[in-house]
Amino acid sequence: MKLASLALLFVINIWMVVAAPAPINYNDGTFNYWLSDTDKKATVMGVDPKFKDAYELTLNPWVTYNGQRYYVKQIGAGAFSNTQVVDLIVPSDIEIMNFSSRAFFNAQYIRTIDLRNQKVSADIGAFENCGRNLSFIGKGVESLVDSYSKNLLKQWGLPVNKDYTNLPDIDRMKDLYTLARKVSENISYYSNTGNPSNTAVVMVFGKGDSNGIARVYRNLAINMGIPINDVQVGGDGQYFSWNYVYVLRKWYNVDIIHYKFGKYSTYESSLFTTDRNQREVIRKGYGYSSVDDVKPIKKWIIYINRYNYYDEWKYNYPYRQGSNTEIFEDWLIRNRQGVRAD
Ligand SMILES: *[C@@H]1O[C@H](CO)[C@@H](O)[C@H](O)[C@H]1NC(C)=O
Ligand SMILES: *[C@@H]1O[C@H](CO)[C@@H](O)[C@H](O)[C@H]1NC(C)=O
Ligand SMILES: *[C@@H]1O[C@H](CO)[C@@H](O)[C@H](O)[C@H]1NC(C)=O
Repeated sequence: MKLASLALLFVINIWMVVAAPAPINYNDGTFNYWLSDTDKKATVMGVDPKFKDAYELTLNPWVTYNGQRYYVKQIGAGAFSNTQVVDLIVPSDIEIMNFSSRAFFNAQYIRTIDLRNQKVSADIGAFENCGRNLSFIGKGVESLVDSYSKNLLKQWGLPVNKDYTNLPDIDRMKDLYTLARKVSENISYYSNTGNPSNTAVVMVFGKGDSNGIARVYRNLAINMGIPINDVQVGGDGQYFSWNYVYVLRKWYNVDIIHYKFGKYSTYESSLFTTDRNQREVIRKGYGYSSVDDVKPIKKWIIYINRYNYYDEWKYNYPYRQGSNTEIFEDWLIRNRQGVRAD
C-alpha cells in the first residue's frame, strides 16, 4: 500500500516535469524573452545590450518562434534594470500587461511609461528604485491604479469591492479610518519625485504631495467599495489638499497628512472633521496666526479628475478642458450632493 502510493507519487512527479516544459529563451534583436509553450505567453526578461541606452523603446505585442505566436504579457523582474531607457511605450494591441516586482530596479533614467493598452497590473515593488522622474501616461493608467489598489488593500487586510449599501455608516467609517491609517503609515509626505500628484506614481513609489496622497486615498477607498461619489479630493486651492467624505448624511473632511493617529487606536471619529475645524487645521499647517488668513470655506475646491495623468481630460471631462477643479460648493449644488458638516 505504502509502496504503491510512493510509486504513484513518483509517476506524478515525472509527469509534472514533462508537462511543464522549461521556458524557451528567445531574443528578437531588441528584447530577451522567456516563451512559455503552455499558454503561448512571452515574458520580457531583459533588453538586448544594443538597446540598453536607447532613448525610446516600444514593446512588441507578440514574437514569432517556430511558426508560433507568443503574446507579450509580462515584464519580468529586473528586465529594465540598469538600462538608460527614458520612454517605454506599451502599444494598444497588447491585451494584458503585468509588471513583475523589481521590473525597473535601478532604471534611473526612465521618465515615461506610456500605457496605451487597456489592462495593466503590477506587483507591489514593480517600480522600486527606479528613476524619480517617472510618470505614467495613457489610458492603461486607470487599470494600473485599480489593480495596484487591490493589491495594497489585500496586503493591508482591508476589503476589496465590499458592498456597503445595507450596512450602517459606522462600518464604512471604521474601514475608512483603517485605510487612512495605512495610507499615512505607507505613503510618505513629501517626496522628491518629479510627479508627486500623479496617482499611479504616488501609489507605486509610496510618496507624494498632499494632492497625490489624497488621490491615492480616494482610489483605494473606491476599490474598497465606497461609492465613487462619496469620497472626493479637495483642498484650499492654494497648497494643501485633503479628502471630502460623505458619511452620516454630510460631507466631512479627512486630512491624512495633518491628522494625529493615536498609537494603538483602531477607530477615532475625530478623523472626520467639520469645515470649521478643518480650517483651523489648515491654519496650523501654514503656521498662520489668524484663521482669517486661510481661504474661506466657500472658496475651497474639488478636484474632479480621478487619476490625474496627462490626457485624462479628453476621456472624462470633455466639457472642462484645461481645468481639473471646481468650487466645491458649486459642485455640490450642481450635482445635488447634499450638505457639508460646518
Ligand atoms: C502578475 O505577475 C505576478 C508574478 O510576477 C503574478 O503573481 C500575478 O498574479 C500577476 N498578476 C496578474 C493580474 O496577472
Ligand atoms: C529629473 O528631472 C529634473 C528636472 O527636469 C532633472 O534636472 C533631472 O536631471 C532628472 N533626473 C533624472 C534622473 O533624469
Ligand atoms: C506599510 O507600513 C507598515 C508599517 O510601517 C509596514 O510594516 C508594511 O511593510 C508597509 N507595507 C507596504 C506595502 O509598504
